[in-house]
Amino acid sequence: MKDGLEDVIACKTTISRIALENGRAILEYRGYDIRDLARKASYEEVAYLLLYGELPKKYELQDFKIELAERRELPPQIIGLLTHLPPYTHPMVVLRTATSYLGSLDKKIAVRTREETFNKAKDLIAKFPTIVAYYHRIRTGRNIIPPALEFSHAANFLYMLHGEEPTKTAERALDMDLILHAEHELNASTFAARIAASTLADIYACVVAATGTLMGPLHGGAAQEVMRMLREVASPRRAEEYVKRKIEAGERIMGFGHRVYRGVMDPRAELLRYLAKRLAAEGSTKWFEISEAIAKAAYKYKKLLPNVDFYSASVYANLGIPDDLFVNIFAMGRISGWTAHIIEQYENNRLIRPRAEYVGEKEKKFIPLSKR
Ligand code: ACO
Repeated sequence: MKDGLEDVIACKTTISRIALENGRAILEYRGYDIRDLARKASYEEVAYLLLYGELPKKYELQDFKIELAERRELPPQIIGLLTHLPPYTHPMVVLRTATSYLGSLDKKIAVRTREETFNKAKDLIAKFPTIVAYYHRIRTGRNIIPPALEFSHAANFLYMLHGEEPTKTAERALDMDLILHAEHELNASTFAARIAASTLADIYACVVAATGTLMGPLHGGAAQEVMRMLREVASPRRAEEYVKRKIEAGERIMGFGHRVYRGVMDPRAELLRYLAKRLAAEGSTKWFEISEAIAKAAYKYKKLLPNVDFYSASVYANLGIPDDLFVNIFAMGRISGWTAHIIEQYENNRLIRPRAEYVGEKEKKFIPLSKR
């Protein structure tokens, strides 16, 4: 067995498929190509698809959108929590703490009927953006902006964050970004969620496990690190020297490499590159140009290809999103994938409990404390 469970098939799923065919990567949600979904669907449509397994009909989508919008507002206790957390708390720590608190407020936390689990999943999908936007407004000493029922999931988040209605381009960019982050088979955070679900832990516990796992810089935390790199490089002219130095020092370039997409482009990165370029054309080209120069050098020196986190950094920067909210945006997208996997695990459950190969010393003679 290779370390890190590489190539190990740990469960069966009907939620998404990753395949490498003829040198090209395929990523499908419930059988639909990510490229089609990103271009033609809305995040709400994709969340419905992931949860229910089929694309919604027009009236089903309408009802789903209304239901999500009505679930956006936070209970006063959660707003109180956001107010009391220190302003230096990382917003991902805030998100997992608030998720756990939502669980403590749910009197039906232990009820795991299909209907109740779907209700909780929709609640989490709807409330994640509000938690992120409210905390950001509170920590920066500004008033919170209640969700607007008439706005889409993406537009409403930007509205609650910035206090003004986003442009159509900004709304569509975030919408597409959330779709691209919504689901990705058995990535580390989804696996964490499924392990928790396999013990029949409540959905909040599963989502807390996933949120904590996503935060690490080898997973979703990479986008914030990419932005740190873009700021450090500061100019496309300095990109090559930076990449060369990092690679020679044996260090990782954040936003590059992937466990599954080896030698092929992450299809999400292709689409995010397109998005980053489009946003740059309408705003600042700075971050996109530095990104392009880094990508060129990373390929030149180590044949490295960008992953989903690389171009999302310049997309978020151009949407005016602060660096330390980048992972939260990822979580706002991925919550629909996580909850779909938790439901799938509950409905076909067997405890996930692998074995470890013991490589330590054996059969040692016990030495009494006085003689050690
Ligand atoms: N920078 C430099 N070299 C890299 C990078 C990178 N980002 N990624 C992989 N490599 C190199 C490794 O050094 C190794 O080279 P070697 O064979 O010369 O030793 C080779 O590529 C294979 O790497 P592994 O360590 O086997 O890759 P693994 O599958 O374990 O790791 C990971 C995947 C963690 C994503 C890795 O590519 C990485 O650290 N990337 C940077 C962090 C990042 O962007 N994370 C986001 C991933 S996407 C997501 O989770 C949403």
